[in-house]
Amino acid sequence: MKIAKTIDEIRMIVADAGTADQKVGFVPTMGALHAGHVSLIKKAKQQCEFVVVSIFVNPTQFGPNEDLNKYPKPFDADIAMCKKNGVDAVFAPAPSEMYQEQNITWVSVDKLSELLCGKSRPTHFRGVATVCTKLFNIIQPDVAYFGQKDAQQVIIIQRMIADLNMPMRIVVCPIVREEDGLAMSSRNKYLDAKQRKEALLLYASLQEAQLLIDGGKRESAFIKEQMQKILNISKQMEIDYISIVNADTLEEIEEIKGKVLIALAVKMPSARLIDNILLDVE
Ligand code: PAJ
Repeated sequence: MKIAKTIDEIRMIVADAGTADQKVGFVPTMGALHAGHVSLIKKAKQQCEFVVVSIFVNPTQFGPNEDLNKYPKPFDADIAMCKKNGVDAVFAPAPSEMYQEQNITWVSVDKLSELLCGKSRPTHFRGVATVCTKLFNIIQPDVAYFGQKDAQQVIIIQRMIADLNMPMRIVVCPIVREEDGLAMSSRNKYLDAKQRKEALLLYASLQEAQLLIDGGKRESAFIKEQMQKILNISKQMEIDYISIVNADTLEEIEEIKGKVLIALAVKMPSARLIDNILLDVE
C-alpha cells in the first residue's frame, strides 16, 4: 500500500497504477476509521481495481466553536486498517498542502446546504463541497463512496456532481451501527458512559417513527412529537432538529408519502450526534 502526503505524489501513484482501463474507487474520510468507513472501503474493493482512501481533517468544514482541534487522529491505526482491507493508496495531506493560507475559492451548493444541519452549521457544507471538489480533481476517481450516515452530505455531493458535470458517480452505502443500534461515528469517542447510553435514544426514536409509519400513521407533526418524547428522556441532550423531509429536495413534508428521510441531530455535552432513516412509503 502506498502512502502519499503530497498532491504530486498521489497523482503519480494513481497514474502509475496504469488505470486507463481500471476503475479507480475513492473513499474520502477524515480518519479515525471505524467499521462504517471500512464498509465503504469494502464496497470500493468489490467494484474497482484500484482503491484510494483520503485521510484529511478538513478545517474549512468546521465552525469556529467546533471540534477541529480535538478531532481524533489515530494515524497509525488508520493506516493499519487501510492495509488490512486491501487499500491500494492512502492520500494524507497536511492542511498546507490542500489550502493556501487564506482560501478564497469555494464551491457552494445553495438551498440544500441551508437546511437541516446547515441551519446550525452555516459554513459546513460549503467546506465539504469545496474539499470534495479538490479531492475529486486530485484523484480523478470513477466512483466515490459515501455513507448514508451523512444523508445531507450525500444529497449535496450528488447534486454538485450533476450541476458541475463531474465525470464520476457516487455509490451510497448503508449506515453501520454498533450492536446496540448507535450509528458508528468517529465522534462517539467523545461520549462518557452516561452520554453513550443516552445516545441510544437517537436510534430508538427513529425506530419508533418507523413503527408508527408501519402502523399506518402518516402525519409528520405527530411522529416528530413522539420522537421528541423519546429524546427528552435524556436530560442532557439538546435537540438541534427532528426533520421529516422529501429525500431528494430535503423539504419538510406534512404527510408521509414516497421517498422520505427522517433525520435528527442532537447536542450532547461533549458531541453533536446525527442519525437518520430512509423510507419508501406507499
Ligand atoms: P467522515 O466523517 O470521516 O466520514 C467519511 C465517510 O464515511 C462519509 O461518507 C460518511 O458518511 C461515512 N460514514 C461515517 N460513519 C458511517 C457509518 N456509521 N456507516 C456508514 N458510513 C459511515 O464525512 C466526512 O468524513 C467528511 O465530510 C468528508 C466527506 C471526508 C469531507 O471532508
